[in-house]
Amino acid sequence: MPTALIIGASRGIGHELARQYRLDGWRVIATARKPHDLDDLKQLGAEPHALDVTNTEAIAGLGWKLDDEKIDTAWLVAGLYGPRHDGFPTQDDFDAVMHTNVLAAMRLLPIVAPLVASTRGKLGVLSSRMGSIGGRTGANGSLYRASKAALNSVLRDTAINFGPQGATCIAFHPGWVQTDMGGAGAQITVEESVRDLRATLAAATPEANGSFLNHDGDPLPW
Ligand SMILES: NC(=O)c1ccc[n+]([C@@H]2O[C@H](COP(=O)([O-])OP(=O)(O)OC[C@H]3O[C@@H](n4cnc5c(N)ncnc54)[C@H](OP(=O)(O)O)[C@@H]3O)[C@@H](O)[C@H]2O)c1
Repeated sequence: MPTALIIGASRGIGHELARQYRLDGWRVIATARKPHDLDDLKQLGAEPHALDVTNTEAIAGLGWKLDDEKIDTAWLVAGLYGPRHDGFPTQDDFDAVMHTNVLAAMRLLPIVAPLVASTRGKLGVLSSRMGSIGGRTGANGSLYRASKAALNSVLRDTAINFGPQGATCIAFHPGWVQTDMGGAGAQITVEESVRDLRATLAAATPEANGSFLNHDGDPLPW
């Protein structure tokens, strides 16, 4: 039975990833930060682990827990949009978005990627097309855009460091998805996005290491 690790599985895309992998019979290790979400993940048949991705001690705890694990597929999903206005960002807004979307990845990926490399497995990071600099046509959500561009940089470094050891590391745009973040008017359902994300990552060969892909596998400009 293959093992999936989902970081940020309380709701939205992360929860649906946990649900679909369980339906397919995978062993799922899933993180959330609230007790009732951990209970819910247990009900799904996942192995829950408490993690606030901005808490360094909790990240170290996850590292201890996963010490001997071999992970076939890992997803870093937890993310924060931050302020919906495009005015002057406060220090608190900046810290919350950058710590959740960037600093957490810089701390978590060096722990997770070797476990994925040990199975010659796959690592997906939930980025966003809004982080693309080459493909940018709008400027709303500037703080979120900057955080996802920085996350893409972290993913590229992870791919360079752990690709040669066997991990295939990919940044994904999941689509504009009907979740709390995407809103009810978003283009695609969470089931559809996750079905595509799983299929695209599963089909990825080592040559895809270090790429930025749409959920359906189309390449995106950095
Ligand atoms: N939905 C879209 O249209 C869309 C488009 C492009 C990219 N994305 C990206 O896809 C990912 C998932 O998005 P979504 O739509 O599923 O978002 P969502 O419904 O808002 O869910 C966000 C998830 O991130 C978790 N999270 C946030 N801060 C955290 C922290 N400090 N520690 C642990 N977990 C934390 C939340 O946990 P709690 O429940 O504990 O808050 C929740 O599980 C994000 O990285 C997002 O940027 C989404």
